[in-house]
Amino acid sequence: MFQRFRRTRLNKQLRSLVRETHVSTDDFIYPLFVRSGENIKTEVASMPGVFQMSIDEAIKECEVLKGLGLYSIILFGIPDVKDSIGSDALCEHGIIASAVRAIKKAHPDMFVVTDLCFCEYTDHGHCGIIDEEHETVDNDATLEISGQQAIVHAKAGADMIAPSGMMDGIIETIRASLDKAGFENLPIMAYSTKFASGYYGPFRDVAESTPSFGDRASYQMDPANRREAIAESISDEAQGADILMVKPALAYLDIVREIKDSTTLPMAVYNVSGEYAMIKFAGMNDLIDYDRVVMETMIGFKRAGADIIISYHAKEVAQMLQRS
Ligand code: PBG
Ligand code: ZN
Repeated sequence: MFQRFRRTRLNKQLRSLVRETHVSTDDFIYPLFVRSGENIKTEVASMPGVFQMSIDEAIKECEVLKGLGLYSIILFGIPDVKDSIGSDALCEHGIIASAVRAIKKAHPDMFVVTDLCFCEYTDHGHCGIIDEEHETVDNDATLEISGQQAIVHAKAGADMIAPSGMMDGIIETIRASLDKAGFENLPIMAYSTKFASGYYGPFRDVAESTPSFGDRASYQMDPANRREAIAESISDEAQGADILMVKPALAYLDIVREIKDSTTLPMAVYNVSGEYAMIKFAGMNDLIDYDRVVMETMIGFKRAGADIIISYHAKEVAQMLQRS
């Protein structure tokens, strides 16, 4: 005898009663790109709807976000001056520290996550200090300044630190510096499984962080490696991460599910710039029903095991949820 699966699909009410996965504004972290100046709001050509903003504009944007029920942001800074070690990121008057302070002052109820890396701040565009001899990023030298960057973020008032540089030992290092400075209650969301991906292309336009030589394959992960992807996340958990992340999201949902089943920590996915751009441009050209595809994609992330979605679509999703 066959099962009548269609019985529970026959009307809307019943379908919503048996629905297994839900998307809510509580799930989202919205990325914001801040730079110095005033009244600056420049749309990114490769990401329509995404802007580089001066801090005053970012403060206004937070008001809009709260109106939509979105209370979490992740901040990326674009400094005026870049140098070999990314000094702006280590300075309490640098762009990120200034932005966190100003946003938290204007919106104490906004949860402000900071991306901790060096690629936006270095003149060579790599995620740490360069080891000239080996033409790669020096892991341990970068750990040292990462600990300092974490303290700069913490002192400015960040609510959570998200290291994205893929240096080995970064979670342990940052945890130790935060604890030593009295920030033992500040959580760390690890970019624990981050692949060397072509999907970051549009982000590097907006963050002005394309490497001037080589690529990031000596620190970000090989997209082909499943076992290593799980090991990276489990290692970050052991080092003290509070939340794990898989990035990018769409081509890696198998990894999300597998890590979810191997840990009890909350899991985030980063629905990255290239993923956003693909859906956005398909929608703008009327090739797909944009809202429907966006929502289907978000449900896919949740179904795969994501508790948190970092997405440039967050505002649009919140609007869709308000309408439905
Ligand atoms: C910085 C960083 C990147 C992203 C988030 N943090 C870019 C990179 O590694 O080149 C990508 C986000 C996106 O594509 O939306 N390390
Ligand atoms: Zn980086």
